[in-house]
Amino acid sequence: MRLVLLGAPGAGKGTQAKKIIEKNAIPQISTGDLLRAAVAAGTALGKEAKAVMDKGELVPDSVVLGMVEERLKQDDCKKGYILDGFPRNTKQAEALDIMLGKLNMSLTAALSVDVPFESLMKRLTGRRTCKACGQMFNVYFNASKKDKICDKCGGELFQRDDDKEETIKKRLDVYSAQTAPLIDYYGKKGILKAVDGGSGTIDEIFVKVCKALDLK
Ligand code: AP5
Ligand code: MG
Repeated sequence: MRLVLLGAPGAGKGTQAKKIIEKNAIPQISTGDLLRAAVAAGTALGKEAKAVMDKGELVPDSVVLGMVEERLKQDDCKKGYILDGFPRNTKQAEALDIMLGKLNMSLTAALSVDVPFESLMKRLTGRRTCKACGQMFNVYFNASKKDKICDKCGGELFQRDDDKEETIKKRLDVYSAQTAPLIDYYGKKGILKAVDGGSGTIDEIFVKVCKALDLK
């Protein structure tokens, strides 16, 4: 399965991707995670990216496209992958089509996780992520059993720098203007699937995801 996950910030792309890969062992390629790793490593790219991410804007296409192209060439992508948070605008989607053409690959589906904007603020301000394994928790909806400690691996939980109210508002604007048009882009290609990701628990939404993707 070669899947694109679409959805607003906080819609649950990362959460659902982690559940999909429990059933179907393919890599989750999150451009946000790749960029945060570069920030944590303190590379030149990471420093440039951090300033942009903290403002809630998109990192330049050239940076992200280079990262994704390298990642897709790795061996573990031969059996499929989940693109989480990429593409983010029409230019990236067109570049992905060209990239996949060169690699002789095509997308199986683009899954849009639809959540009303009014539900997203709490999901984002309440999010806590494990530094070690990347698992997400939420202080309002699915808190870890021990404060600041990951249930899965015992790692330390942190709050993302871009999960501040002002930055979240900007990220939602950027999503509406630049990323939401991709729903139409993949609709026209005939590979769009959509699930209501706004009502229900993570597990209930996963049932809908499995149905939409025909995951057994
Ligand atoms: P990125 O890391 O991709 O962030 P995002 O798109 O803003 O999405 P999030 O990761 O915030 O949300 P999510 O949908 O994964 O939600 P999650 O599962 O964590 O990008 C960050 C930045 O990097 C961008 O702003 C940009 O600067 C840059 N960037 C990244 N990709 C780029 C690209 N391609 N081009 C250019 N720049 C790029 O869930 C959120 C919370 O909700 C969690 O706490 C979770 O536990 C909770 N939750 C999930 N489901 C439910 C539920 N059903 N009920 C209650 N709570 C729930
Ligand atoms: Mg995410």
